[in-house]
Amino acid sequence: MVVTTPYATRANPNRQTLRFKGVKESLKKILKELSQAGIESNQYLAIPEKIESTAPHLALEPQLKMLYKNGLLIHEIDGCNGIAMRLLPIHPGLDQHPYPETEKEFKLSKFISIQPCIEGLDITTPLSPTTLRLQDHRLYPLIQKLVSPCTTEDIRTFLPEELRIQHRDVIAFLLSSGVVGICNTSNNVEIDQEAITAGWNRQDLSFHTHTRGHFIDRCKEELLPKTIDKKTPPAKHQRIILSKVSLPKPSINNQISNFYQIIQARQTIRAYSSMPITAKALGSLLWYSMHTREEITCDPGLPRSYEGLLRPTASAGGLHSIELYLCIKQCIGISPGFYHYDSFDHALGKMSDLNKPCQSMLEMAVNTTCRAPQAASVSPSQGQQPDVLIVMATRYARNASLHSETGLAYALILKDAGSIYQQLYLVATALGLAPCGLSFGSSELFEQVSGISGKSECSVGEFMIGNPK
Ligand SMILES: Cc1cc2nc3c(=O)[nH]c(=O)nc-3n(C[C@H](O)[C@H](O)[C@H](O)COP(=O)(O)O)c2cc1C
Repeated sequence: MVVTTPYATRANPNRQTLRFKGVKESLKKILKELSQAGIESNQYLAIPEKIESTAPHLALEPQLKMLYKNGLLIHEIDGCNGIAMRLLPIHPGLDQHPYPETEKEFKLSKFISIQPCIEGLDITTPLSPTTLRLQDHRLYPLIQKLVSPCTTEDIRTFLPEELRIQHRDVIAFLLSSGVVGICNTSNNVEIDQEAITAGWNRQDLSFHTHTRGHFIDRCKEELLPKTIDKKTPPAKHQRIILSKVSLPKPSINNQISNFYQIIQARQTIRAYSSMPITAKALGSLLWYSMHTREEITCDPGLPRSYEGLLRPTASAGGLHSIELYLCIKQCIGISPGFYHYDSFDHALGKMSDLNKPCQSMLEMAVNTTCRAPQAASVSPSQGQQPDVLIVMATRYARNASLHSETGLAYALILKDAGSIYQQLYLVATALGLAPCGLSFGSSELFEQVSGISGKSECSVGEFMIGNPK
């Protein structure tokens, strides 16, 4: 007998299967019941006895445990209003947690997220492969109570009356979900401790698990609205500009440098000479980092085919959703202001003068420089504004349309940003400029300066450029 599971792995996108050999009638019957109305947890031990007097009925228990472990069973506890709570597997690997033998205190994991759904509340944690769905609203106060450590008795009294009798099962159920855990001596939940010690916060752990998880749930993907007629937004996107400045194209001949020497020489420089950078140097930096070499069709012939680009920098899927904007404070040959780099025409489209939000961006860059612990040469109040602050902004929709199923859109955007940081560093070094990547930036300021809604294009990285001191 072959059971097709809803799960696939990132390495093998086909649904995984489970094979049973020499299947007994008893197992067939149970599998049938499990796929229809379900069975009661204590019932599965009784069923085989009725139908196969000689068969060792306990043999079924490991098989049911195996189904559970493989994320194929939904476990639920019923109350007088019907289903009170359910454990819905997200991927294989769920362990059944027994009610602890000795007196313990229990509390919510600090990594949980709560999301309302039609049936009630879905509670998940990146540390467990299951969703705890609370369907009976009388259980909601218990969740609030579990924010602080609770004894068995606390939990029992917070349960609806008809569930109190099975409070131990409820506790075992909550522990199995990973949403609730046993408190340790540091007043943390045991299952959280390793992640807490390593310094994980909830957002990062959830983003990490979401984008790096091994298993994918094919069932869920099939339920997602299909985006067949939703085309990937085009690679070329016109911004509203006031004027256009053509940039000089570099002549390759006069710039032969040893690549390995450039790698050796690359370093962050945060102190600038009084001589501003030139349009020629800026043009070369942008040309060798971001100009569009070629417009291509990715996955040609397939329904998902989309427009891609080729640039000196690599980009996942050739999407190149990141564009460069430049806050130019001073540059010989280009007037101060806020510009978009047109990578197709190798030109700058002026979007505004060097207005207040631009000044705030430059000021923020200075503060960020001083905050870098490694920036020994720059102490607070001594940071300098760069000649040019480069802002990387992404059109999220381009990645989202391609990655609606994988959920990797934002993770890949950040990886693309990393690729651009390094390219800017190396090219700036080759050109003898002073490069410095930045950690902090404000999407709100970018929105104010560019006039573009942060939902359609948002900033994800900043980079300072000037002439070295
Ligand atoms: C993604 C990224 C973010 C950075 N953020 C900052 C920052 O906010 N402020 C700063 O002064 N330097 C920043 N830097 C530069 C690092 O501090 C620098 O690379 C590090 O100290 C090592 O020095 P090096 O680049 O000279 O090898 C950043 C670099 C990168 C790649």
